[in-house]
This record gives sequence, structure tokens and C-alpha cells, in this order.
Amino acid sequence: MVRFDLGALAYGADYNPEQWPREVWREDVRLMQEAGVNLVSLGIFSWAQLEPREGQFEFAWLDEIMDLLHEGGVRVNLATATASPPPWLSLAYPDSRPVTVDGVRLEVGARQLYCPSDPHYRALSVRLARAVAERYGNHPALRLWHVNNEYGCHIDQCYCAQCAARFREWLRARYGSLDELNRAWGTAFWSQRYGDWAEVQPPRRAPSFPNPSQGLDWRRFSSDNILELHRAEVEVLREVTPDVPVTTNFLGFLPGLDYFRWAQEEDVAAVDVYPDPAGVAPHLEAGMVFDLTRSLRGGQRWLLMEQATSAVNWRERNAPKRPGLMRALSLQALARGADGIQFFQWRQSVAGAEKYHSALVGHVPPERSRVWREARDLGQELKGLDFLRGARVKADVAIMFDWHSWWALSQASQPAVTPLLPVVGAWYAALRSLGVNVDFVPPDADLSGYRVVALPQQYLLTPEAAQGLRAFVQGGGTLVMGPYSGVVDGDDHVIPGGYPGLLQDVLGAWVEEWAPLQTGETREVRWADGRVTPVIEWAEVLHTDGAEVLATYETDFIAGQPAVTRHAFGQGHAYYLSTRPDAAALTDLLRGALHGADVATADLPDGLDVTLSDIKGGKLLHLIHFGTQPVHVQVDGVVDAVHDRATPALSLAPLEAALLRVPADFTLDQLVVT
Ligand code: GLA
Repeated sequence: MVRFDLGALAYGADYNPEQWPREVWREDVRLMQEAGVNLVSLGIFSWAQLEPREGQFEFAWLDEIMDLLHEGGVRVNLATATASPPPWLSLAYPDSRPVTVDGVRLEVGARQLYCPSDPHYRALSVRLARAVAERYGNHPALRLWHVNNEYGCHIDQCYCAQCAARFREWLRARYGSLDELNRAWGTAFWSQRYGDWAEVQPPRRAPSFPNPSQGLDWRRFSSDNILELHRAEVEVLREVTPDVPVTTNFLGFLPGLDYFRWAQEEDVAAVDVYPDPAGVAPHLEAGMVFDLTRSLRGGQRWLLMEQATSAVNWRERNAPKRPGLMRALSLQALARGADGIQFFQWRQSVAGAEKYHSALVGHVPPERSRVWREARDLGQELKGLDFLRGARVKADVAIMFDWHSWWALSQASQPAVTPLLPVVGAWYAALRSLGVNVDFVPPDADLSGYRVVALPQQYLLTPEAAQGLRAFVQGGGTLVMGPYSGVVDGDDHVIPGGYPGLLQDVLGAWVEEWAPLQTGETREVRWADGRVTPVIEWAEVLHTDGAEVLATYETDFIAGQPAVTRHAFGQGHAYYLSTRPDAAALTDLLRGALHGADVATADLPDGLDVTLSDIKGGKLLHLIHFGTQPVHVQVDGVVDAVHDRATPALSLAPLEAALLRVPADFTLDQLVVT
């Protein structure tokens, strides 16, 4: 792996100079200097300009802009330019156009029009990547390769005949024989037995519920297939420029791609994050993605590759970021371990589908633009925060996140539709309201460094993952598991004998039956201390077998039966929630579990975002306030890390932030916030 190191925090944007006449380029570089821009992502959608006809390359314009940027002190994250094949390619090779689940072949007119299996697209994109690498591999401005762009953003599954053929190859490698495939897919059901590999198809539109095991394997294949396409470009780059780091921009919790697997291919993880400024809590939406991105490569520093200066163009209604929000979210990314802040895009387009997407240089001149002023000021501010590059975010608490379980859960025909992200989001929000750093871990992670592991809804749990959790609890860890977890194995087959099949002894409890609530329905549970709190969406007929009951259901045929349990197992503890408590009760439960595991917490007012990071000689306490009411913070013996002065108490107005140095033994319970 080659380390990405710009020698400073990166600051900049996607730069699309091909949309502008030459005169604008010099002005761009001047403005970039004014805004402290030191890195731009260049050429992401330039294929048609770089290769206007098949095999005819035109690099002169890019030579010029690379030199210009370099002279201006701006370094380049250079794209392989393969994200949007030009019309000539799509028309000359019609099979390169992807096919939807309904069999519709998509047409020319937008971006990401490629089938990941198509040999022509693959060969031509790899050739372009090689041409770009050979031409600019030694250019002094080059610092990072940006491969393709947001793989799987628009097309994460292609159902064409070429993909069907590759799917069959993938299945042969996974199962070895048709008998094994028939077993894994449970094809004895509904007369689906396959007698010949040629009969095996992608799960195209079918009359009724498709086979869920087939659907799960299809999602696995689709992620792997696109990854292979990515690898083909990466291989060429590593061959031609072994010393230049490689990345591609991820999309956080993107359903299509198993990023835990993908991230192993990159030299640095990079992500695009667009929380809805009109949403309830943009900082939780963004923070969850920041924490995931850091976790993908085991806590290494990462890059925020794209965010918006203000509004985007792709929601139904696109709210601007109110003054201060862009800065606060940027500081949050830095707190969570980002090595740089980049935007989409540098100069706002006047034509095309993204002309209403904000940028640093907007439609109004910079001197009249609030968005420009905020972006310019942030660029200058970042220069004083360079010491953050030495910080590391560590967590005692992890949320298990598993794309395979997500894919299995997304298959049709379940006890209820239970979208995963809102559930994970609710647990994440509860943990974050206690101030603790949170990592995300895949099911095969080494859990030994964590004190508490939470599984909000881990529907699919392999025997290996169950074994990992068992060993974790046995060794003293605390497991907190939510409902509808551990139901199926890696083939999406139910583990019979009561749920969750493999962890009943660890939980000291077992589930007999599910009782999902109706949409909008609320019920209640009674806690041991007499409190009665609401629960939503899901309930279960839960029995204890050794566990202590923490809460019971109040109503219906399960009234008086356990709802939430705790069990001592080995050196550790396992909590089980058979329902979804509201935010306050979930937070209370998690606080208790954390304290039981010797994890200190703080009780934070709404919107106060706290991160602790380790730095040489101590810790940094990052406080960023996203709430609507001012807060007062008292911490003894701390120093403002930016201005280097003692700060025993401080007040934060909405969207204000503070960065404090605290001693190495600082714990969250020393933080008093009112
Ligand atoms: C993504 C893409 C960009 C742009 C932005 C708009 O992040 O990578 O090219 O389309 O979305 O928000």
C-alpha cells in the first residue's frame, strides 16, 4: 500500500475545466489560491474530451491544465476518466449498455452507462486508464489516482446475458456443483431444481416472490463483479505508477457494494457525503458515514472526497446549507479522522443536469456569495488545523454492519418489511448521544479491541460470526443484540430450533414467534424500575432460559412476557431486545450496558457532537454543536488546541465548535454540559 500524504490537510473540489473556456482556467487557479485549495479531482467525466473517437487521444488540453494547476501550487487527484463512456462507445458496442431487471437496455444520454461485464467497456476503460497513467504518471502535480467514480451509484446490478454468464461462473466457483447450488438455493421449493448450469439466471422480473437465496447470491456477485472491473483499472495504475496511491470515492451506506471488501483494494478510503440539510439531524446522517469510512480500513485516516457547499440538485426539494453548517460538518469529518475536505464541485455548471448543484464558485460572483466566503474561510482555517493529521480515533464500542445480512434482509417475503438503515441509525444516534466514539465492524472482524458490540438487526449470521460473538462475550465483552437477528445462515436458510438459532445459550433467551406491529402502531413495555415506555414496529414472543428480564410487554397476548433481557455468559454479558424502544429508553439501556462494560459516557444535549481522538501526548476533544440552543461546557484542565490557551469553561452557540487538548487519561464522564 502506498500512503497518501499531501503534507497538509487536503482542501479542494472536483474540477471540471472542460466545461469552461480557457480564460476561466487562470481565474480558477487564482481563486483556488485565495481559498487555500491544494488538491482538485480532475477529469472525472472527461472521457469524451480525452478520446473523442475510438483510439484517438487528445491530451493537450489536460497537459495545459495540469501545468497551470501545478504552477499555482494546486495538486491533482487525477481521474482515470472512465466513469462516463462517450456516446461513440455505447453506440459502437451496444452490449456495453446495462440492462434493468425488466430487461430494458438503457440508452445514451446520461452517465455510468456501462455493463460491468462487457469486454469492450472493460478493454477500452483499461486502455484509457493506461494512457492517462503513462502520460501523467511523472507529472509533479499528481498526488492520487481517482479511479472511475462512485461505482454502483446508478447501476449496481446489470441483468444482461453477459452478466448472466459471469454469474454462472461465479456460482460454479462458489458451489462447485449443481447439487450444491440446488441445496444452497433451496430449489426443492416451488419446483425450481436446476438440471443444467445454462438454466441458472439472474433474478430477473418473475411472476411472484423470487428465490431469496438466489437474490442474495446475485447481490454478492454484483458487488464482486463491479469490484473486478475496478481491480482491472487499479492493476494498470499500480503497474505503471507503483508509487502513486489509488482511491475511488465510496458512497457510505450504498446498498450495492460491500465496502468492507472493496476498501481493501484502496490505498486510502474516500467517501462522498450529502446529508439532507432539511433533515432532522444532518450531523448524524453524515457522522455515521464518516465513522463507517474510517472503519473500512481499520481506523486509518481517510478522505472526504465530495460534499456540497450548499444545496444539491437531486432531491425532490433541495434545501441550502444554512450559514455555518458546511463548516460544522467539515470539522466533524476532520474530528472523525478525515485527512481532507473536498467538494463537488469547484465551479457551478451553467448547463447539464447538475447546474443547480452548489459549488465553491457559484452562479453569482464570488465577492457577492455567502457560500464562497464560507468555503474560502474554511480553506484558510484548515491551514491552522494541520496537527489533526497526527490524530487517531479509537472506539470501545462497535456496531456490526454486514452487507450480506442487509442483502438477505432486503429480499421479499419476510414477516415485515424492516429497512435496515433507520434501525442502525437509531442505535447509532443513541450511542452518539452518550458521546462515545463508534466504529462499524464486519462480522468477521477481530472484536477483541472492543468492550461493547451492538447488533441492531443482524438478520443473517454465519456460524463463524456467531462463534466470534460467543468468544467475545465469553472473554468479557458485552453484546447488545436487537430483534430479528441471527435468523438465517449464510445461504439465507433459517436456523431452526427457535431464534436466534446459534446464540440462544449466549443470550439465555430464545424467540418462539414474531409479532410485527402495524405501521404507526405503538405499544408499551414496563421496565424493572416501573417506567413504561413506548415501542414500535416489532415485537417477539420471547422466553428466558437463564437471562434476567429487564422489561416486559404491557399489552396483547404477550402482556407480562419478556421484552428485553440480560444474561451473564462467560466473563461477559449479552443483552437482547425483542422490540424497538424509543430513543430515550434505547439510550438508557445502552448507557447501562456501556457502564457495565466500564465505558464512560457523557449525557449530551441535543445536537452536541463529541469526538475524542488520540494525539501525541494526550487527547483531543472535538466539540461541534448542531443543536438549536446554546450549550455551556465545563472541562477542567483543558487547553484550546487551536489558540493554545487554558479554557476551563466555554459556551457554544448553534453551529459553533471547539477543539480542546485534554490529558491522556481524560474520560467522558469528566465532561459537564448544560
Ligand atoms: C456524486 C458524484 C458527482 C456529482 C455529485 C452531486 O457525488 O460523484 O459527480 O454528481 O454526486 O451531488
